[in-house]
Amino acid sequence: MEVKKVAVLGAGLMGHGIAQVAAQVARCEVNLRDISQEFVDNGMRMINNSLQRFLRKQTVTEAEAKEILARLHPMLDLKEAVEDADLIVEAVPEKVEIKRNVFAEVDKFAKPEAIIASNTSSISITEIASATNRPEKVCGMHFFNPPQLMKLIEIIRGAKTSDETVDIIVNVSKKMGKETVIVKKDSPGFIVNRILIPALNEAISLVHEGIADPEDVDKAITLGLNWPMGPIKLLDYLGLDTTLSIAELLRDELAPKYRPCPLLRQMVRAGLHGRKTGKGFYDWTRKE
Ligand code: 3HC
Repeated sequence: MEVKKVAVLGAGLMGHGIAQVAAQVARCEVNLRDISQEFVDNGMRMINNSLQRFLRKQTVTEAEAKEILARLHPMLDLKEAVEDADLIVEAVPEKVEIKRNVFAEVDKFAKPEAIIASNTSSISITEIASATNRPEKVCGMHFFNPPQLMKLIEIIRGAKTSDETVDIIVNVSKKMGKETVIVKKDSPGFIVNRILIPALNEAISLVHEGIADPEDVDKAITLGLNWPMGPIKLLDYLGLDTTLSIAELLRDELAPKYRPCPLLRQMVRAGLHGRKTGKGFYDWTRKE
């Protein structure tokens, strides 16, 4: 099956970018659905901002930007969003019950041959798939932030994901201009977050233990390891709350050594979630 029509569920930090890539690079028709007009409008605003950046760089022309926007259909109704989609990509909040409810609903309305993928960063694909009657057509499709620029998609097999489903996701990922890796077993954190989250946690521990200031941790890693962004800045960029919930999952499902640093927990409790709340380790109130 060739994917021509995509539904993206959730217009947040990841969902808006996934919808944009599907419309811009894969040239698919895309329904972008969220639960409130405010969320949908915010997703479209972020897409517009990103397109402005591509326009400034002249990697997209005015005419192409118009065509991309014409292929994007913001909406609130779940049935309308998924009923004629070949691929549904879920990017709703990282709570297992929310995801299972969404998958059960989508399963009722989507075409029998449609593939349902989750952009979860850590939740079990097998558990999400078991909320549907088509676990062989459910797969993990993990994008990286910002999806418009990051080249990788991790494809995660659930216990019952079929080879055909994996092939379809590999092909549509290529159409989106991405490289893929296959995660053969459904394991917490998959590949990237299993390595990244402990590294970010160590970075906060250095600050928590008074060993170095956030700016110096970032300087050390950008200059010493050539990361494009230091780990403390990356934490702010991804969201401290998101990092905490992945660290907790790694600890609960893999080993106690993944225990989140107390400073991470404390900052999340204080509402210092990073870029999305305007403040984390850095002040983001004057940035986009
Ligand atoms: N859309 C379009 N263009 C964008 C963009 C967007 N959303 N965001 C940034 N850009 C462009 C900018 O316009 C700029 O273009 P220019 O070079 O022509 O001026 C260029 O990208 C660089 O942007 P900035 O100058 O604003 O900032 P940076 O140089 O720091 O680049 C970055 C931003 C690309 C995000 C870079 O810092 C980076 O790669 N950071 C690391 C990101 C990363 O590690 N992501 C993965 C996180 S893990 C994850 O997502 C998994 C999850 O499950 C936790």
